[in-house]
Amino acid sequence: VFNIVLVEPEIPPNTGNIARLCLATDSTLHLVKPLGFSLDHRQLRRAGLDYWDEVKVTVWDSLQHLLAATEATPDRSFFLTTKCARPYYDQSFKAGDFLFFGRETKGLPESLLAENFSRLLTIPMRPQTRSLNLATAVAIVLFEGVRQLRPESRL
Ligand SMILES: C[S@@+](CC[C@H](N)C(=O)[O-])C[C@H]1O[C@@H](n2cnc3c(N)ncnc32)[C@H](O)[C@@H]1O
Repeated sequence: VFNIVLVEPEIPPNTGNIARLCLATDSTLHLVKPLGFSLDHRQLRRAGLDYWDEVKVTVWDSLQHLLAATEATPDRSFFLTTKCARPYYDQSFKAGDFLFFGRETKGLPESLLAENFSRLLTIPMRPQTRSLNLATAVAIVLFEGVRQLRPESRL
């Protein structure tokens, strides 16, 4: 349904949680290196990711590789950040859209945000909170997209 892009994810359980969300919604997971963990099968299984083989996952050496090889055109790419004011629910999503999320400690690179300032989206929060957990942020936006795409999303 969607393409979820994690730019340099660091924490394995977050990626595992997001992989499960992708499987549940028939979405593709893109992981952009460097990763903060190994994709070694034994480690994934130890982390409880038994379903990993069923998830559509692509690992990219860099963002440039992903942008060159996928249909992530600027008009169908959206960047989730705390550093903008436009709520994700004001965006009309289409099947196949690319949703970019940043790494747990740093968020998306400033240069990427600057290049795509018209396609930044945020999940509104009270100012007491700096940010949401990465997997929580993915779940919120992904299921808003699924809701918008009904009945095409078949969920
Ligand atoms: C833990 S957050 C990163 C926090 C980082 N200190 C920052 O300020 O961007 C990891 C990722 O989750 C997503 N995220 C978390 N909270 C969000 C929010 N309220 N709105 C949009 N994206 C959010 C963003 O993609 C972010 O890059």
